[in-house]
Amino acid sequence: MSNDKEIFITQPDLPPLDDFIPYLQKIWDSRVLTNGGPFHQQFEQLLCEYLGVEHISLFTNGTIALVTALQALRVTGEVITTPYSFVATAHSLLWNGIKPVFVDIDPHTLNLDPARIEAAITPQTTAIMPVHCYGHPCDVAAIQKIADNYNLRVIYDAAHAFGVRYRDESLLRHGDLSVLSLHATKVFNTFEGGAIISPDAKTKLRIDRLKNFGFVDETTVVAPGINGKMSELNAALGILQLERFGDARRARRSTPTTAACSTAWPASAAWARPASPPPTILTSRSWWKKAIRKHATRCSSDCATTRSSRAATSSR
Ligand SMILES: Cc1ncc(COP(=O)(O)O)c(C=O)c1O
Repeated sequence: MSNDKEIFITQPDLPPLDDFIPYLQKIWDSRVLTNGGPFHQQFEQLLCEYLGVEHISLFTNGTIALVTALQALRVTGEVITTPYSFVATAHSLLWNGIKPVFVDIDPHTLNLDPARIEAAITPQTTAIMPVHCYGHPCDVAAIQKIADNYNLRVIYDAAHAFGVRYRDESLLRHGDLSVLSLHATKVFNTFEGGAIISPDAKTKLRIDRLKNFGFVDETTVVAPGINGKMSELNAALGILQLERFGDARRARRSTPTTAACSTAWPASAAWARPASPPPTILTSRSWWKKAIRKHATRCSSDCATTRSSRAATSSR
């Protein structure tokens, strides 16, 4: 008997198709497809309420959101970041002509180790870009202290951290900006999507202009912007997904294969196994997403792929 059958640990979570039809009907009726339409506006507002943040800007994906976040804060020179992430983290720096300076991770949390950051700071360093790897919160207090001491910006790649709370508030409130991915593989998806969480209205306005070609109005362009807008289709799906997110997350946590893969983590890759988060932390657990091929031990080595591999922290 062949044992090549794929058993999915997780698959993209989707609402029943019938529930989405009324949203599609509205889009077809209005012919408003993008450019900050009604679903886009409503989704931003609902996300702010749900996540417990004040200002959010929706994006076409997390990568363009990261690129834009760096533009918004005019980050240049060198940025300290983690080597243990999906490639988009470092690529967003390179797309801005910034030099990524890799600092090693804490083997227990798999996040950027704050104790190693200072040694990597040079006169060219302007910011730190940590990742809340697998939704596990970085040591935000230690990182902020260093940033304050050296006058550095902090942009969190929070691609895995949708809905994560830390010490009774949204983890996304930390740093100068936080960037989410709403990609198909994430615990909360809008097919493709991303978002930047800003601390104030002025920063959100700059980001909203940058993601719309730099337009201020129909004839005035104030910056070399990009097209990073989320479409009405993705925003409508997001509204529907948000309604069912609690159930979706509970279902993902109780997936039997999640437990199977967790217990099958190989001893040889123990360094790569994240510590269990403290009970105060509500992680998104968005890290179990790969298909098990053949049997669980093979899966465990896939999950623990080395740090040089895209698969290691990719949610793909
Ligand atoms: C850590 C991290 N950063 C950035 C991204 C990029 O997000 P997106 O796929 O939405 O462009 C991902 C996506 O997988 C990710 O895992």
